[in-house]
Order: sequence, then structure tokens, then C-alpha cells
Amino acid sequence: MNQKIGVILSLCSLVVGCVAPAGGADVGANAEALSREERRGRSLFQHETFGGNGRACETCHRLDNNGTIDPEFIAGLDPSDPLFRPIDSDDGTGATYDQLRARATVNVTLRLPPYLRPCNDLSATTWTVRRSVPTSANVAAESVFNWDASATSLDDQALGAVFAHFEPTRTPTSDELLAIAAFQETLFTRREVRKLARRGRVPELPRGNTPAQRRGRDFYLPEGQCGVCHSGPMLNELSAFHPDVVAGGRSAGERTAMILAGTVGNRPQPGVQWCVLNPAGAVVLRTPVPFADPGIAVNTFPNRPGVIGGFKIPTLWGAAGTAPFFHDASALDLQQMMDHYNLFFARFSQFGPQLTPAEQADAIAYLELLGVRGNRNDDDDDDDDDDDDDD
Ligand code: HEC
Ligand code: HEC
Repeated sequence: MNQKIGVILSLCSLVVGCVAPAGGADVGANAEALSREERRGRSLFQHETFGGNGRACETCHRLDNNGTIDPEFIAGLDPSDPLFRPIDSDDGTGATYDQLRARATVNVTLRLPPYLRPCNDLSATTWTVRRSVPTSANVAAESVFNWDASATSLDDQALGAVFAHFEPTRTPTSDELLAIAAFQETLFTRREVRKLARRGRVPELPRGNTPAQRRGRDFYLPEGQCGVCHSGPMLNELSAFHPDVVAGGRSAGERTAMILAGTVGNRPQPGVQWCVLNPAGAVVLRTPVPFADPGIAVNTFPNRPGVIGGFKIPTLWGAAGTAPFFHDASALDLQQMMDHYNLFFARFSQFGPQLTPAEQADAIAYLELLGVRGNRNDDDDDDDDDDDDDD
């Protein structure tokens, strides 16, 4: 969880504008000096409450904790911290925060489109779910935001975040939103991601430094059991080897998939069956299994299986440092994440067999290599990276 970004931090001492790390990995401490607008954005990100409940962006996207929050980090907070606000308490009154403390999830209220309803309440127009906090780092190399891919620009995303979490008494200006976006685009957990975002340099999958990492790498190739969905430069898109792409139903490069997180295995929230209605209001489809969170179906008409309960495929660069995992934090650590995939593979055997414990360990070792720590391949890049920082 709290891993140092070794190489990037050591560069920092040489560069004006770097902040000393406060404890965990400091995503603000990348080797770039900030522009005037980015500095304004940083100040807004850290302090601006928009006249609301006292929260700022950094209340949940902690720059000294990989750009996110996790149960361990929350345990160290003072009870007066603005993270603890009744809107994210267990019953809305502020009495207890068990869900926030256990999984670092907060409430997100979805506006349901006319075609989508919980089958047990066809008149519901909103639906509240608990979602984990993705890191705000590496977003410069991302084009769709939120677990359900509901925003396509950072300024739109930030506007939604203010209304979702701040209880604001004033609306952010577009200048403020753009400054916050500009600042977020300076946050990286990985050197490779910064090079991709800044210079379009497509990262290569590191070869691996240990035998376990070198074995684990195969899972992340475009034809590998993880790579079919975690492919492309950011390891977050379908590859040409995905079974549905091979069959012709979907296209390589698509950014969403359904892996049954929160539906099989750990279920932090109760699920319901979802109904799809036609324009006349008649039920035309009913999910065979219950989902707590309809995911991308809120933005995408469910014209094929996997849209209800489907989510954005997150990047795997830096992911090892941002536990808990999945949209609902149903996997608290890397082992629970792997155990979940075995439940998924058991039900969808077209993706391949369940992994043995040894294979799981190899896949985890490689994910840690892709995580926040520096590695030998990074060091090899150091010289030319110093040069790059001058452009
Ligand atoms: C109360 C906690 C909280 C606060 C405060 C908060 N966020 Fe978030 N943030 C979240 C959660 C939860 C999500 C996932 C939302 C979803 O999937 O619907 C998220 C998602 C994001 C994402 C999308 C990342 C991705 O990879 O998809 C960005 C960017 C982001 N927030 C930036 C901000 C900014 C900017 C602010 C301040 C204006 C802010 N957040 C305030 C909890 C918070
Ligand atoms: C069928 C497509 C698919 C396959 C196969 C797949 N993933 Fe994923 N992965 C996703 C989606 C979609 C999510 C987000 C799901 C959610 O939150 O409900 C995700 C989330 C993750 C996350 C969580 C990241 C975060 O920030 O929370 C990790 C880690 C991960 N996958 C690793 C793997 C590994 C390791 C494998 C191979 C064992 C794998 N994935 C196979 C689609 C896939």
C-alpha cells in the first residue's frame, strides 16, 4: 500500500518544486516543476471546499498516499478529519463509519436512465452504491473517468466530484475546474506513464528481475489470461485475443468489461436483480444474477451481456500500490484480487483455467513490478529521462 516511488523521489531532491514525501508514496513528487496554473490547481485540489462540508479533493485523493485512501490510512486519521462526514456514514446520520473504515468506500448516488431499474422497485430513479476511491495519479494518460466511465474529461469529472462529495454552497468556475485538471495531469506513480502522457512513448512490459516475475509476465501479454482485458499502452483495454473480440462481438481497444466483482466471492453490498425496460415501460430483460452496482449500464444501453455490472478496465501501471481493489473494494489485497479472478475463470472458462497458487504468486510478483516501486528497467531509463525533463 505505502510504497516509495524510489527512483522518482531520488530525482526530486535535484529539482525545484518537489515536495518532501510525508510518509507513504508521494504522487505529487514527480520530477517536474509546476506552471502557474498547475500551482493554482494544486492549491485548489488541497484546500478549496466550495463552501461545503470542509472536504477538498485531497480529503480522499491523498497526495502522500498514492493519490487515494485505504483502511490502514483511514485508521490513522483523527475523527474530526473531513473525510468523516454524515453523507458517507453507515446510515447517513454520522453515528458510525464502519464501511468507510473497513473498505475505504464512499457513497455515490447514480441517476438511473429510463431503461434501467432495480427489478424490486421499478419506480426508483436513483440508486446509491459505495465505491472505492481510484488514484488521481496517472490520469494524464486516461480518457474515461470514474468506475462506470461516466466522465470523459477531467474538468467534468471534478464538477461531478464537488457535487457528489462536498455538499457545496457555490459552483466551481470553469477556470477552477481546468486548473484542478491541469494539476492532476502532473501526478504520476510511474515514470513510464509520465513518458507516455508527455511524449507518447509507449511503455514496454518490463522483462522482470526475478524468475517469478519473468514467469508472471506471460499473463500480461495480449494473449495472456490477464492481458486479454489489460492490454494496450496502459494495460486497460481489450486485446485482439479477447474471446468476444475473436468471436466478432466486441472490438480490440474497448475499455470496459464485467468480472463479477462484488457478485461472486466477497460481497460488501447486497445485490439486486436489474430490469431493462422498453420505452413503453415493459420489462424486456432481467439479470440472471444480482448486482449491487449496475456499473456502465447507467451510461450504456445494455445491448449485450456484461453491460449491467460491467466497469471501466483500470490500468495495471501502479495498481499494486492502490489496494483495496475493484469498484467496491471487494478485494482488500492482491491475494484476494487473485482469488476473485479464480472465481471468475471458474464461471467463464473461455478466459482460461483457474490459476494454481504458484501461478497466482507469479502473477502477483509481476503486478508488484508494475507497481509503484522503481525497478531495473527504470534505472536503465534514468539517463535519457534526465535529458527529457529539460524539454
Ligand atoms: C469523498 C471522497 C472523494 C472526494 C472528496 C473526491 N473524490 Fe474523486 N473519487 C472518489 C470516488 C469514490 C471516485 C470513483 C467515483 C465513481 O466511480 O463513481 C472518484 C473518482 C475520481 C477520479 C477518476 C479517476 C479514474 O481513474 O477514473 C478523479 C480524476 C477524481 N476522482 C478527482 C477528484 C477531484 C479533482 C476532486 C475534487 C474536486 C475529488 N476527486 C474529490 C472519491 C472522492
Ligand atoms: C474479462 C476482462 C478482465 C480480465 C480477464 C482480467 N481483468 Fe482485471 N479488471 C477488469 C475490470 C473490468 C476491472 C474492474 C472491475 C471492477 O471493479 O468491478 C479489473 C480490475 C483489476 C484490478 C484492480 C485495479 C484497481 O485499481 O482496483 C487488478 C489489480 C486487476 N484487474 C488485475 C488483473 C489480473 C492480475 C488479471 C489476470 C489474472 C486480470 N485482471 C484479468 C477486467 C479484466
